[in-house]
Amino acid sequence: MKNEFSPWVTPLNEKTIETSPTSWSIEYEHFPCTIDVTGPLLYTLFEEHWQDVQIGHVVEGSVLELEFTRPPKICILYDGYLTVVTEAWHLHLCLEQHLGGPHCKTPLELRQERLVSRAAFYRHLNPAGKPKGWGIQFWNGRDEKMMSLFLPNIFIGEEEDLLPEGKPNLEKLTLYQELREIYILGTRPIPFDENPLKRPYISVCRSSRCYPSRNWQPIFQALEEAVKEAGVDVRVGTAGCLEVCHNGPVVFYSGDRTWYTRVTPEVAKEIVCQHLLKGEKVKKHLYPPIK
Ligand code: FES
Repeated sequence: MKNEFSPWVTPLNEKTIETSPTSWSIEYEHFPCTIDVTGPLLYTLFEEHWQDVQIGHVVEGSVLELEFTRPPKICILYDGYLTVVTEAWHLHLCLEQHLGGPHCKTPLELRQERLVSRAAFYRHLNPAGKPKGWGIQFWNGRDEKMMSLFLPNIFIGEEEDLLPEGKPNLEKLTLYQELREIYILGTRPIPFDENPLKRPYISVCRSSRCYPSRNWQPIFQALEEAVKEAGVDVRVGTAGCLEVCHNGPVVFYSGDRTWYTRVTPEVAKEIVCQHLLKGEKVKKHLYPPIK
């Protein structure tokens, strides 16, 4: 049965403090990490606020920071992983169980370990307890820190310069405060009627590792035209590896997790008219093949 999407987050009311020998600390406020909470949050950040957010990974002795210079080219949920692709780099974050492609080959234990299992908004506090940094942190099923999202910092100017002492740009806290009201306090609704990452899509693999799929453009175009003509509410996109390499061009429909191989523009149209419109799969191009 389909889960009903609720725009209201039930607050966890869980606050923890991580201390360090430097007397700085991190205050975490946890929120539920189910897909109907993490999906809208991450969609908002990557699709609507990509200019305001940086992605990082911070452990003792190492810091990685990446920023967007343009909107992401791809932002989709595929086999449990959120994939965000930019001109220069891409990221994957496991928001739902990763089953392991068409053959579901990921062992059960590993599915749990890869999954985001804890998530929190954080503030970096100086030794006097004053907040100096804001962001979001994720942990996996082994309770290891996964990526961090750095939210706008009121002490940093437009050119990444430090603002003069005592003159923070308080407007930069707006995003953190609004998101906190939605996802931590539950006093404002999620601004979507449905989980935007769960909206069905059909995508064609454009990865260069999939040699026959290099000619993905005609398939993409055929899908776009057919979806428009059929008037179905399905996004058309491109994707990275869909785990059926060497049988390309490969197409994936997220609505019911279906893979198609050796897709031509004609087959693409058939998939839309038969499968997306009438619910009947195009059997001779299914993967795994029907014996
Ligand atoms: S590279 Fe296209 S399916 Fe793997």
